[in-house]
Amino acid sequence: MKFLIVLALIVGAFSEELEHEFPIVEPEEHDAYLVDEHQMKLNDESELLMDLLFRNALPERFRGEDYFKTVGIKKSSRVEAFQWQNCGNNDPATVMSLSVTPDPLQFPGTVNIAGKLQFNSSFAAPLPASLVISKKAAGVWIKLPCIDNFGSCDYPDLCQILSSVGDCPDPITSSGLGCQCPFKSGTFDVNGVSFDVDASAFPSGDYKIRGSLTTAGKEAACVEIIITIS
Ligand SMILES: *[C@@H]1O[C@H](CO)[C@@H](O)[C@H](O)[C@H]1NC(C)=O
Repeated sequence: MKFLIVLALIVGAFSEELEHEFPIVEPEEHDAYLVDEHQMKLNDESELLMDLLFRNALPERFRGEDYFKTVGIKKSSRVEAFQWQNCGNNDPATVMSLSVTPDPLQFPGTVNIAGKLQFNSSFAAPLPASLVISKKAAGVWIKLPCIDNFGSCDYPDLCQILSSVGDCPDPITSSGLGCQCPFKSGTFDVNGVSFDVDASAFPSGDYKIRGSLTTAGKEAACVEIIITIS
């Protein structure tokens, strides 16, 4: 988008200066040219980003001094372990504790998630959800695109997604939270849910995942985690 605006400004400035010397170019032609260029650039970027996503990257915690010198970042800023935080401001739903083990995650293998959630209000459909997934490359977080509903995507309603999920894991049911909308207000202690992941579903590397939920046009929850896959 920025690229498009800058191009439009340059073209705009030129056409004003040269107006009297050159025939005026039809605006439609200009527009088509800009959209094509912009679209081409977007496609190239998406391809590069998908390439990055599907390539294994050695997690930063396994890298030596040399790597950090080469990429020009301080070793102290590296991802060392699983991290989580609430990223909202007075959101009615917050995470009070969260663990994801093993750290780093290994596929194929088992993923264990435990946590405590506090909902200060109830939440009914629709609950628009948004995911932003970034991967660390050469010391910086690169946001991955949304492709085929995978990656950094917006989803119109989490409730609808959940309605197609089959069995609700026992620890989620027994915590009182449940897997379907509407969600009640309260504190929910989910003691541990385990998933077996067969394939090498995700390439290794450090990932940052930010998930947020909206209710009635306002943010309901925002959680950010940093996770490593080895
Ligand atoms: C949610 O409720 C808890 C307990 O009553 C309170 O400590 C917390 O500040 C509340 N959060 C918000 C955002 O109102």
